[in-house]
Amino acid sequence: MLFIRSTLVLLVLAFNLQCSWAFSDYLLKTCAQSGFCHRNRQYASNIQESKRSPYSIDPSHLIFNDPLHTLRGTVVKRIPQENGSEQVIELPFTLDLLEGSKAHFTIDELRDPVNVKEPLNTRRYNETLSWALHESANLFPTPNVKVTKPKSLSRDKQLILKSEDKSIKMKLHLKTFKIEVFYMEDLVMTINDRMLLNLEHLRKPENNAENKLPEEIIFNDFHDDFQYSREDTIPFGPESVALDLTFNGMENVYGIPEHADSLRLKDTTDSDPYRLFNVDVFEYNTDSKMPMYGAIPLMIGTRPGVSAGVFWANAADTWIDIKYDESNTKTHWISEAGIIDVIIFFAETPLEITKAYTNLTGTPSLPLLSAVGYHQCRWNYNDERDVLTVDYEMDKAEIPYDFIWLDLEYTEDKKYFTWKPEAFPNPQKMLKKLWKVGRNMVTLIDPHIKVGYDISETIERSGTAVKNSINEIYHGHCWPGESIWIDSFSRKAQGVWGKFVSKFVKNANNLFIWNDMNEPSIFSGPETTAPKDLLHDGGYEERSVHNLYGLTLHETTYNSLKQGYAKENKRPFVLTRAFFAGSQRSAATWTGDNVANWDYLKISIPMCLTNNIAGFPFIGADIAGFSGNPSDELLVRWYQTGMWYPFFRAHAHIDTLRREPYLLKESVKSIVRDVIRLRYALLPTFYTAFHDASVSGVPVMNPIFYEKPTLEETYRIDDEFYLGRSGLLVKPVTEEGCMSTQVFFPPGIFYDYFTLQSFSMEKSGYRDVDVSEETLPLFIEGGHIIVRKDRYRRSARLMARDPFTLLIAPNATQEASGNLYVDDGETYSYQEGNYLDVLFTLKDGILESSISHYPADRSLGSNLIEDIIIATPNFQKPSGTILIQQGDMRKEVNVQVDPYHRYFKIPNPLLEIGKPWTILF
Ligand SMILES: *[C@@H]1O[C@H](CO)[C@@H](O)[C@H](O)[C@H]1NC(C)=O
Ligand SMILES: *[C@@H]1O[C@H](CO)[C@@H](O)[C@H](O)[C@H]1NC(C)=O
Ligand SMILES: *[C@@H]1O[C@H](CO)[C@@H](O)[C@H](O)[C@H]1NC(C)=O
Ligand SMILES: *[C@@H]1O[C@H](CO)[C@@H](O)[C@H](O)[C@H]1NC(C)=O
Repeated sequence: MLFIRSTLVLLVLAFNLQCSWAFSDYLLKTCAQSGFCHRNRQYASNIQESKRSPYSIDPSHLIFNDPLHTLRGTVVKRIPQENGSEQVIELPFTLDLLEGSKAHFTIDELRDPVNVKEPLNTRRYNETLSWALHESANLFPTPNVKVTKPKSLSRDKQLILKSEDKSIKMKLHLKTFKIEVFYMEDLVMTINDRMLLNLEHLRKPENNAENKLPEEIIFNDFHDDFQYSREDTIPFGPESVALDLTFNGMENVYGIPEHADSLRLKDTTDSDPYRLFNVDVFEYNTDSKMPMYGAIPLMIGTRPGVSAGVFWANAADTWIDIKYDESNTKTHWISEAGIIDVIIFFAETPLEITKAYTNLTGTPSLPLLSAVGYHQCRWNYNDERDVLTVDYEMDKAEIPYDFIWLDLEYTEDKKYFTWKPEAFPNPQKMLKKLWKVGRNMVTLIDPHIKVGYDISETIERSGTAVKNSINEIYHGHCWPGESIWIDSFSRKAQGVWGKFVSKFVKNANNLFIWNDMNEPSIFSGPETTAPKDLLHDGGYEERSVHNLYGLTLHETTYNSLKQGYAKENKRPFVLTRAFFAGSQRSAATWTGDNVANWDYLKISIPMCLTNNIAGFPFIGADIAGFSGNPSDELLVRWYQTGMWYPFFRAHAHIDTLRREPYLLKESVKSIVRDVIRLRYALLPTFYTAFHDASVSGVPVMNPIFYEKPTLEETYRIDDEFYLGRSGLLVKPVTEEGCMSTQVFFPPGIFYDYFTLQSFSMEKSGYRDVDVSEETLPLFIEGGHIIVRKDRYRRSARLMARDPFTLLIAPNATQEASGNLYVDDGETYSYQEGNYLDVLFTLKDGILESSISHYPADRSLGSNLIEDIIIATPNFQKPSGTILIQQGDMRKEVNVQVDPYHRYFKIPNPLLEIGKPWTILF
């Protein structure tokens, strides 16, 4: 029966492909169809009426750990019984104030192992944080938190906790479990403000009635009547956790990717909540709160001067309601299983929240420089000849690229870790040919493994496959037909997978891996994913760990590749479709199966921005739409937008026409070539932005409000952004037939990137900018210095020795500054200090370079600067010669002025990038 259904689903998907672009919504539950979501929404509305708090903190059980920096206690749930007595459920509770204006709290349940069959684990899953957090992250509470403890604690008392630096004060109301959090004496967040805290404790169907609060409803608590989930055994019955958090005085919240929606999250009062549940949503809907491939349960709220973050560390199916209420934002978080495990962050700006969050979950790893270049992908390049033809044609058309990709069909019968022998008789030779100019290949390897070959047999034998609810190996349907799934939660499975990977990349030094379908996508499964009662390592149900699965797989792949390339000390490249908090440490991602139409182009910008503020910047959307054939205009606009995606990849469905850039008609080809070349010219700036991200979590694609957090008018702008902190401001054109667009500018001086024509904004506002097919609205904010490499090369690696160009854009005070980070672009030697870090500044008529860090390998700094371009009129062209000094070298040169007097140029100053220098005007 399952199989018949899956065939139907496939037929429907195939049908859709031809006639409309919409996801088959009926495959996914709505909140009303989801037992725990429906129950908690109803509970919320009933509690609002009864105004009763069934939960409180037991004053007699509070323990202040020495030296008073941690609170341990019990949350008590009281359930009135028919005979007038109360049933009391005790739930362990912890609260820690952390260093740096953060706090961490948990509410758990100790469950009796009643009627639970081995190997099912009775415990609520509490290890989400151990996957999400960076290995050296610490959640140690700050020492010397001051707790004001009243002399006698009764139920209606309050408890006040203060951090030593006094930045945070928490007022805990024992009677209702309400927590008010003050940041710098300002009430910023209220936890359980609306008393929506709910933890469905363990019960049996026969005594459900005594265990139910009067505000609770019974709906799908011991069974599931959703069409595709009826077989769910729900062994623990209802076990959801829910809580409300109010962002006080904040009217804007962001984050919780992945959704095809605006950057600022929408009010969900009259719709379904946002859902976080990793699923395969082929041709997903846009402007939707529907779940997608990835989940990062981080929400950021902001107002001028104060920002707050909530990290809901729960990997189960999760729904989030948002209500903008006068000047507050009220949120309601509902997860199907697990514990309540929350970290809250406070800071002056939203950027500080992202930084604090990545400080815990890990900053994005620094990618290979070549991975910041252009990626050419298609489902599928059919054989070695096809690959090498694309490679040759790109060079012939003088279009740079760095990665060529193989989708599913390179395998023999969709058996991963194999090559189709007739199509790829000699992969090593092909890889070597690509490597001649420093190019790389990525091959698709998914977690579903076809039954009946050595890889699946090894997994079965070693006991490292995902199990079904009766602890037998789970079989489902995916690309290869009948498949099993590797349980990458287990250390043993990680070792097994590592061996497959090492063997696969043996003798190669430019072969990398793409983990697709790792939500996991299961054609025969409910909601096209895994049944919730599957069993993972430790006896935990899929229900509790679902959103983590993708991360466990791509992290295992990354670690395996790192091992495989240990001799070369090389950084791996892994692309993942499913992700969770922490995925940024080991993978890039993309926005999945989009469609070649304008809506998907437009939505790609807020989607990428949201991932960027949620700590996972290495993201892009398939250019120019995965399904369907883009018009020339759409394709051009998509490349012009896509060149700003941190992950810059063209990809196309197997049913689409070929559209490699060299195949485009001449006029279109030349625009696309220039766009790709612009990305390569700006690689030094992009790579510096990636480096900043890897140090502190700063977004690569950076929303305007992240740079200008005091300007409230920027809080809803999500069609414009900065490249990192470089001062490059971009407003891609995403409308068909667009001749003119309105661009928002903050106050200051701005330069058109291409003409260097400048204008000044007294105060922030919009300006009309004319556009043509070739133009891209791109500006430099005064005060910045942009670093480029202007020569065309076939790949990023071939640019290593190329000279730099500096573009100086002074501001009103005739100042500018900029950074450059350089390393070998390939290995981990930068971690041993082998990198160059330069700061360029223009001030008081002196342009100078100072070196903040010298590389061990001095050749990294031996590239020359071939041009310095200084935009006028905010900087006067010197009347005579100028003096250039570097070390013992001193020379006087004349500058060149452009005919329109928009800039002047110091040609060939012959300065080495890796040594300090000065230019006196
Ligand atoms: C009230 O009913 C509950 C079960 O619903 C029972 O456990 C309890 O003992 C009863 N209390 C009294 C005072 O009868
Ligand atoms: C998870 O729960 C177990 C059992 O209650 C406990 O021993 C362990 O310390 C908990 N782990 C975390 C990270 O809270
Ligand atoms: C977090 O911040 C601390 C203190 O600044 C720093 O030592 C540590 O390396 C950071 N960790 C990460 C993962 O960024
Ligand atoms: C001008 O730019 C410099 C360097 O980026 C910066 O320090 C200064 O604050 C800016 N001045 C104004 C008025 O924006």
